Amino acid sequence: MSAEIAPRTLPAWAYRSPEFFQAERREIFARTWLLVGHVSQLREPGDYVSMTIAGEPIAVVRGKDGRLRAFSNVCRHRAARVLDGAGNCGKAMRCPYHGWTYGLDGQLLAIPEKTGFPGFDKDANGLWPLSVGVAAGFVFASLAPDPVPLAEHLGPFEEWLAPYRPERLVRYGVGTDVLPINWKNSIDNYLEGYHIPVGHPGLLRLLDYKRYLVETTGSAVSIARSPMRDKASNVWQERLYQRLVRPMPGLREPENREWNFIFAFPGMTFNLYPDQIDFWLNYPLDERRTMTVWNTFRPPETSGRRDRLVRRLNTRINMLVQHEDNELTARVQEGLGSSLYRAGVIGERENGLLHFHDLVREAIPAAAIDDEAEGVSALAGPIGARAPGD
Ligand code: FES
Ligand SMILES: [Fe+2]
Repeated sequence: MSAEIAPRTLPAWAYRSPEFFQAERREIFARTWLLVGHVSQLREPGDYVSMTIAGEPIAVVRGKDGRLRAFSNVCRHRAARVLDGAGNCGKAMRCPYHGWTYGLDGQLLAIPEKTGFPGFDKDANGLWPLSVGVAAGFVFASLAPDPVPLAEHLGPFEEWLAPYRPERLVRYGVGTDVLPINWKNSIDNYLEGYHIPVGHPGLLRLLDYKRYLVETTGSAVSIARSPMRDKASNVWQERLYQRLVRPMPGLREPENREWNFIFAFPGMTFNLYPDQIDFWLNYPLDERRTMTVWNTFRPPETSGRRDRLVRRLNTRINMLVQHEDNELTARVQEGLGSSLYRAGVIGERENGLLHFHDLVREAIPAAAIDDEAEGVSALAGPIGARAPGD
């Protein structure tokens, strides 16, 4: 008999408690790096991307000087969200409420009926600046004034993505959805292949399950590598994908024969296929709803009929997987509301989950407490939150 203690999941209450969600906003989402877009969306001055992440409206804008800047996308006048979605805002950002206008550098330039605001200091009322960084062509922002450098936070992320040359890829598909589950439930499901044999018959036909292995790191990322099987699937769409897929130009062994899945804490996932890549974000709206946003990318030179067909087949196969996962995670969310289930055990094939849960426990020590009442009161006490500057 082994004396080892099996690692445990986060407690069930962490997936349903409004207090825990507020702790996540403070201790995780306000401190870490968050993906908001791709460099292809931000080539020209005035190009911007925006997203509201865990209740914080964030925008990244390319300035006249060519620099990328991130801002809180909240007007300093009456807090209206300034920019919507993504696009080009021209020479300035104009708030749609009363028309305050900010330069691409965030400075407040003009306010209508200025004389009605005696003594108002325009210079001190620009958009709040945030930190910004780019890794492997993906654009990140952070609410932390002095975050850990992005490259350090992401460990081997850029190296893992380099074979796909993501900076030059073309964005060709976008979508968003709201899932009726906690964001960590969605990530847990993403992080282990242990449910493939029972939950995803299609993936079992396409991927070499025995060699589906998750590599974790001391940083915010993990990767699941899974070689594609050589054996032809007996489902025609899968068989056609297997027959027609060709790797992106320049993609070599082993990536040209693998489906790889990268996770970046807190809610970011990247699916790397030989023919295309996508990112899929899981950002909380609250403790029971998750906003998902996905963007798909292809190499610029692959727009022929065969490539389009392969991408359509890939999308079809993975939409079914998503559908299966939505059903499974909804089941889990219901069970996490039970008064009897407190926490579960984490198996060796679920090492990606352990890495994720350890990162949550590191950020919020009260997440190590199984009992909800004790946990919630610890959130308010000294072990619930880190002191500023920790
Ligand atoms: S809220 Fe933006 S101008 Fe008033
Ligand atoms: Fe799944």
